[in-house]
Amino acid sequence: MKVLFATGNNHKVLEVNDIGGEFGVVFKQVECPYPELRSDSISVVAEEGVKFVYAKIGKPVVVEDSGLFIQALDDFPGTYSAFVFSKIGNYGILKLMDDTSNRTAEFRSCIAFYDGKTLKSFVGSVKGDITEKPAGENGFGYDPLFIPNGCGKTFAEDQETKKKVSHRSKAVKKFINWYSSKKS
Ligand code: IMP
Repeated sequence: MKVLFATGNNHKVLEVNDIGGEFGVVFKQVECPYPELRSDSISVVAEEGVKFVYAKIGKPVVVEDSGLFIQALDDFPGTYSAFVFSKIGNYGILKLMDDTSNRTAEFRSCIAFYDGKTLKSFVGSVKGDITEKPAGENGFGYDPLFIPNGCGKTFAEDQETKKKVSHRSKAVKKFINWYSSKKS
């Protein structure tokens, strides 16, 4: 099964295909930039995005919106994660957390599908802690800062664990489950 995936982020493409491969689903990257709505909800951003992309390409397609929600920062950077990362990066986030012992955070992902008739979205999340300093070389974005609960290593240090427990892998599995039943 092939699914079009509109994103400019190659890391996301690799990750969803890593999961998709286990279920015989291939996500084919489509370059179709879309405006990201200003909303605190990843679902709203993903659903508006996928409708925009569908209107452009006229084919069933998915988009994914994700972000890091840090409790002590009132869920910042949240849906603004990509922008914030490009401006202040991991060290900027750590600086904002200089004075706080509450390191609790959550990654969230929403995969939204639209085919002109059916609009569906699937959310996945993973809770964890923000490190005191970045660790690990793999992955992307905030991976070096995030230690999932029950694991001693950041996502950037342990990509196998990321594959099992990440927000994105959970959202993708939910999507694949629904999409396969729709197709059969
Ligand atoms: P967007 O979904 O394109 O708006 O971008 C979400 C941003 O959140 C990414 O550019 C990263 O900065 C961050 N992010 C989302 N998921 C992950 C992840 O799995 N690891 C690290 N950073 C992530």
